[in-house]
Amino acid sequence: MIRIRNLNAGYGRLHILFDVSMDVRDREITVIVGPNGSGKSTLLKSIFGLTKIYSGSIDMDGVELTGLMSHEIAKRGVAYLPQVDNVFANLTVRENMMMAGYTIRDKAEVESRVREVSEMFPIIRKYWERKAGTLSGGERQMVAMAMALIRRPKVMMFDEPTGNLAPKIAKEVLGKIVELRDSLGMTILLVEQNARRALEIGDKSYLLVSGRLMFEGDPQELLSHPELAKLYLGIGT
Ligand SMILES: Nc1ncnc2c1ncn2[C@@H]1O[C@H](COP(=O)(O)OP(=O)(O)OP(=O)(O)O)[C@@H](O)[C@H]1O
Ligand SMILES: [Mg+2]
Repeated sequence: MIRIRNLNAGYGRLHILFDVSMDVRDREITVIVGPNGSGKSTLLKSIFGLTKIYSGSIDMDGVELTGLMSHEIAKRGVAYLPQVDNVFANLTVRENMMMAGYTIRDKAEVESRVREVSEMFPIIRKYWERKAGTLSGGERQMVAMAMALIRRPKVMMFDEPTGNLAPKIAKEVLGKIVELRDSLGMTILLVEQNARRALEIGDKSYLLVSGRLMFEGDPQELLSHPELAKLYLGIGT
């Protein structure tokens, strides 16, 4: 679905990603792991048109995404959930959902999509009139996911959705991501700090170190890799 070839990207003249090639396949969870500052977020931002691309290509179903603006990329079915500020804290959950559907003209359609999404995320109904800023981190993440779903994306990109969450809540959030794949057939690109948990749910994995890919393949293989797992992911085998 998304094919990245020899991507070189960064911020202004600060070169961060070097010759990155990657395939994000349909209906799979593709996991990107790596140490702090290795360029994981930069890669997601590059797909979403938020960095400077020096060379290489990013295409989705054969359509080139490089050079497009973020809103155009979103229109093509890519949802990007940054780690922070992914809900409007001062608005209620209801208002957040309406904001998410603001580009959809038919408001009855928005309501029907909200109903649909609420089945997967009961929290939407439960906290309908609460200010999103008063929700817990995990609840906010759920609302952010529900908001993204309103626009019926084809691909969802998550940047550390479990960052700062307690282990039990983090598990719930990752469980929802698995559910998105299994029941909606969603294509997912997931960046995670907690490498082990993410690799356990992934179909394909990439290890990014200092802006370069060091591994590509089966997540289980990376998890049990004699050197890489220990060296870069803090996983003892
Ligand atoms: N807007 C920016 N302008 C300039 N440099 C940036 C910008 N954002 C990130 N960087 C730099 O790019 C490099 C890669 O950062 P990035 O956020 O992609 O890493 P990361 O792998 O997501 O790290 P973390 O695990 O800490 O989130 C870092 O050296 C960072 O300082
Ligand atoms: Mg990051």
